[in-house]
This record gives sequence, C-alpha cells and structure tokens, in this order.
Amino acid sequence: VRRIGVFTSGGDAPGMNAAIRSVVRTALHMGIECIGIRRGYHGLINGDFVPLTFESVSGLSRKGGTMLYSARSEDFKSQLGRERAVATCKLLGLDALVGIGGDGTFRGLLTLAQQGLSVIGIPGTIDNDIACSTYTIGYDTACNTALESIDKLRDTMQSHERCSVVEVMGRHAGHVALNVGVACGATAVLVPEQKVDYENDLMEPIRRSRLAGRTHFMIIVAEGVEGGAYEVAKQINEATSLDTRVTILGHVQRGGAPTVRDRIAATYMGYEAVRLLAEGKTCRVVAMDGESYVDYDIEEALKMHKGLDQQTYTVMRALTGVQ
Ligand code: F6P
Repeated sequence: VRRIGVFTSGGDAPGMNAAIRSVVRTALHMGIECIGIRRGYHGLINGDFVPLTFESVSGLSRKGGTMLYSARSEDFKSQLGRERAVATCKLLGLDALVGIGGDGTFRGLLTLAQQGLSVIGIPGTIDNDIACSTYTIGYDTACNTALESIDKLRDTMQSHERCSVVEVMGRHAGHVALNVGVACGATAVLVPEQKVDYENDLMEPIRRSRLAGRTHFMIIVAEGVEGGAYEVAKQINEATSLDTRVTILGHVQRGGAPTVRDRIAATYMGYEAVRLLAEGKTCRVVAMDGESYVDYDIEEALKMHKGLDQQTYTVMRALTGVQ
C-alpha cells in the first residue's frame, strides 16, 4: 500500500478529526501517503480532495466536527456514481480507502470493495448504533454535552416546579437517551427499543416521585420514540396537569471538543485501520469489543444486531421504579 484516501461520511461526530489525524500520522509512519477526500462519497464522485501531511493534521485531536466535511450522497446510490468514485480512486492512485461514519458509510465501502478496492471502515456516530462495535466515536462527547444541558435545565425546572421533557438524538436507537437518563437521574426514560406504556413507564414514576415530595421532574425521550417529546409532554399534561416544557437538544449534541474517551477511541481506531491495510487486509470494520480493539468483515458487520445495554436498562428501571 503506497497511497490511501480517507474520508468522513454521514452525520459528523466529535472525534472524527482525531481519527483523521491518526490515520494520516500512522500512514506516514509506515511510509504511506495520505489524501483527504472531502464531503464523503460526494467528494469521491467529484474528485474533491486535499493532500494531507504531518503538519496539516496538527492540533486536530481536540477539534469537533470534521475538517474533511461530511455529506450524505444520493449520487453514490446510482451505478454511474459508483463508477465515477472508482475512477477517482484510480486517477488519484489510491491503493485503499478508509471511511469514517456509520452503517451507510460501510454499505458504500462494501460496494467499492466488490469493485476491487481495498477498504476499511471506522465507526463514527454519536448514536452508538453500529451493531459490530460496543463503542462508536462521538458517543461519549454527545452524552456529556446532553448531560450538561440537562443539568442546566434542571435548575430552572426546580425553581418553577415544572416537568421537563428533553428529546435527545439517537435516530432509531435509545443508547444516548438511556445513558444520559441514568447519568442525570431522570424521573423516566423512554426509548424506541421498547413500546412505550404511558401509564407504567411515565405516569407511575411521576406520581411516585410526587408522592415522595418531589416538585420537579426530568423526562428523557429518545428522538426515535413515536410522537417524540411533544406527544410525551401532551400525555403528561393531560394525565397530571403539571406545568411541562419541551426541549429538543438537537444538533448541539454533535458539536464540541471530543472527550478523552473519544480522542483515545478515534486515535486507536485510526491506527488499527492503517495497520490492517498495511497487513494486506481489506473489507474490514475496526470495532470495539468491550475495551479491546477488534475488526470484522464489513458484510458480516452489517448483518449484526445490537440492542440496548441490558445492564444499564435494568439499572434505569430500578432507579425510576418502573416494574
Ligand atoms: O446519526 C447522527 C444523527 O445526529 C442522528 O442522531 C439524527 O437522527 C441524525 O443524525 C440527524 O441528521 P441530520 O444532521 O442530517 O439532520
């Protein structure tokens, strides 16, 4: 392997920059050149690239966002788009590609692998919803960002004796909601993996908490829950007449300087990706299994399934008093 391309694709996540830096520095250390492809698959199709040097990735580990920009490409879904992407790789003399992103990014890498390119995927998404990996780059920072906002919200909810309904990101998964819910000591946590029983999962914990003397309440709702935070707030209002406020944390959860955990995970994963390529491996996803770094065949990785962390779910139910 003499020259590799690196790109970020899909929703950005804090730590993606640290992963780019790690790929570049590891590659240079192994005598491999590195080219940055900008705007994900869109850039691959249009030949939008930037040479990356030791110096150009300096100071990147502490920066949020992605210096290579990110996009979700519709064009790559067509045969013509994919042919143009392969042509760009040939034109740039790329022996291999490292793609940082989620499942959509990995599906794209798989189609390129099927056309003869060497590819490695790195899981980067705040949702932590990549089945093959217990951890994805950006998750810890996003949870900390959400937690900081929720702690602030709690102050004002307490003063006004209100009920706060906070919607956190996660697409179809409830990892962020569950983790943040446990960390902030929520009254109730609603996730899309479990059909919501309003009476049991929401009204009962609120009533119990009220009976115990509490006058403000914190409800964490994953964005994937049917109806979202507004529907949940409406149900609470109707059942309890509490003064309720909705806060949708939104994209603020995707920004900010990455935490130690994200910088370390991103840096190790970047290193692993280049190491695998240097050893002649292809079509692999770098992943975490607990605290260990492992790798899987992309096709197999895409077939895996990941549920909520059962231990955290059990603890959440115990602490919110849900039966
Ligand atoms: O996958 C990351 C994520 O932030 C999800 O949590 C969310 O559903 C989605 O991306 C939002 O996408 P966009 O940035 O395109 O609005």
